Amino acid sequence: MHPLKPNRRQFVLGTGSAVAGAALLGCSGQSTAQTTDAGFSAALCTTRSTGHGLNYCLVEPVEVRLADAATLAVGQVLLFNVDDSTAVIVARDDRGFYALSGICTHQCCVLTICDGDCTSLFTNPGNCGATPRGRLVNGAAFFCACHGSEFGADGSVLTGPATEALPAVTVRREGNDLVADLGKLADPEFRIT
Ligand code: FES
Repeated sequence: MHPLKPNRRQFVLGTGSAVAGAALLGCSGQSTAQTTDAGFSAALCTTRSTGHGLNYCLVEPVEVRLADAATLAVGQVLLFNVDDSTAVIVARDDRGFYALSGICTHQCCVLTICDGDCTSLFTNPGNCGATPRGRLVNGAAFFCACHGSEFGADGSVLTGPATEALPAVTVRREGNDLVADLGKLADPEFRIT
């Protein structure tokens, strides 16, 4: 288990400053990212999704616009939480930008990402919130606080109980924004520049 992984209580309550900051942003357009459909976004800010995007959990098959994410440097990553059942991870490696579901494939918790040199973690930013930019580390890059699963930067399972990789989804660039589509699976090697 990763030594920095928050326990279940920390995960639920959100003890980190990043969590508190994101929660204060709310869903009124102050966050650094938003869904492309404003009406849909507003509904999800106060409700749990019931979608079946990606054919697991309740991931909503929604497009998520991540403002300014096309300025991510190589090795940076962020997680955007649409609701308690829907989240997306967008990262940039030396081959380009890619997107993964940010929902654990075990029992559907929102994942966490590494801050800086991975001495701390950015946890669930709350509804309609984006984490600050984290670091895409080698080895275990994404963690699930619920039961301890760890995923590599490519979404592969490194530590269970999860047995399925994080699904890769399509992402496109619109100016400085990236738009990830949680309704469209992509090849794990899919990249855009
Ligand atoms: S929900 Fe992620 S490890 Fe169980």
